[in-house]
Amino acid sequence: MANNGGAPPVGQENINTDIVTLSRFFTEEQTKYPEASGDFTLLCHALQFSFKSIAYYIRRASLINLTGLAGSSNTTGDDQKKLDVIGNDIFISAMRGSGKCRILVSEEEEKVIKFDEHPNARYAVVCDPIDGSSNLDAGVSVGTIFGIFQLPDEVLGPNKTVEEKHLLHPGTSLIASGFTMYGASAQLVVTMRGGGVNGFTLENSLGEFILTHPNMQLPAKRDIYSVNEGNSMYWDEWCNEYFHSLKHPGEGKKPYSARYIGSMVADAYRTLLYGGIFAYPADSKSPKGKLRILYECAPMAMVFENAGGLAVNSHMQRLMELVPEHIHDKSGVFLGSRDEVQKVIDTYNKYKK
Ligand code: AHG
Ligand code: MN
Ligand code: MN
Repeated sequence: MANNGGAPPVGQENINTDIVTLSRFFTEEQTKYPEASGDFTLLCHALQFSFKSIAYYIRRASLINLTGLAGSSNTTGDDQKKLDVIGNDIFISAMRGSGKCRILVSEEEEKVIKFDEHPNARYAVVCDPIDGSSNLDAGVSVGTIFGIFQLPDEVLGPNKTVEEKHLLHPGTSLIASGFTMYGASAQLVVTMRGGGVNGFTLENSLGEFILTHPNMQLPAKRDIYSVNEGNSMYWDEWCNEYFHSLKHPGEGKKPYSARYIGSMVADAYRTLLYGGIFAYPADSKSPKGKLRILYECAPMAMVFENAGGLAVNSHMQRLMELVPEHIHDKSGVFLGSRDEVQKVIDTYNKYKK
């Protein structure tokens, strides 16, 4: 036998030569729908380019003077960070350039953005370009959240107009949603209506998202809770009772662990992997909640439900069924493992009876 330095013979190395990239994944998915035109796949290519670009700039932020405030505030009154503005611009350009997006809602833009140069584009996209931006300068994980709707045929064509009202639909109308978390590596989680949830990791050398977490399933329970407890003096009584019960479970039982990053994407990603509950309840200070229905709550709820979890608002209504009246409407949020969200519902019902 030839001495090759102890390395295994060619072909027997533990190297995966049959990698599933995001592009391959979408191409294979497309073949399941013979009627598909390929437009959705092209839109997803543009989406993944925006995620790679945002990941790149976040990683370099401290080196190229991209930390700090942009000196403006967005439509919901939050201070805009430089990267909020850059992430938003990257996202808008990618959607315009795809030629497949007709209308876009971004957290950073007061009004919808219409791409009239693409009158036949059949998709509407909603996004939070950088979620958790207060964490940016500390190098803590942030993310991008997105959702995709398909527009009805009657609004397609050069003489037709598309309006804000074409986006005021519940999460149940989304055809796809997901998020990318920019952490130690960039993690993309994507799901389609009625489908499973798949996780991809950005391989920086190849510049490709690689399928690393196929068919993600949320554990049915886990004793971790994630909430900004600093708001507890504003919470309803039932809400305080619920979180109190996790910390004081009774004689001989172990209390829950608290984990709160302050970026919904990062807290949700951990919850998706480990289980538990993530919440941002409506309270007396923010009676309608803090997180936005269209581009934060609904896309995330779709991911959680498709992974076997539950997602409800502060009135225990299914988040996926909320119909926003305005594009930036907000809601209370409880999402996570099935059994954990059920405990929230049970506590709420006990108080509301
Ligand atoms: P954004 O950065 O897009 O405005 O979103 C911030 C959100 C969300 O990511 C997070 O869960 C929550 O705000 C944190 O809020 P608190 O700082 O009030 O805990
Ligand atoms: Mn956000
Ligand atoms: Mn944001």
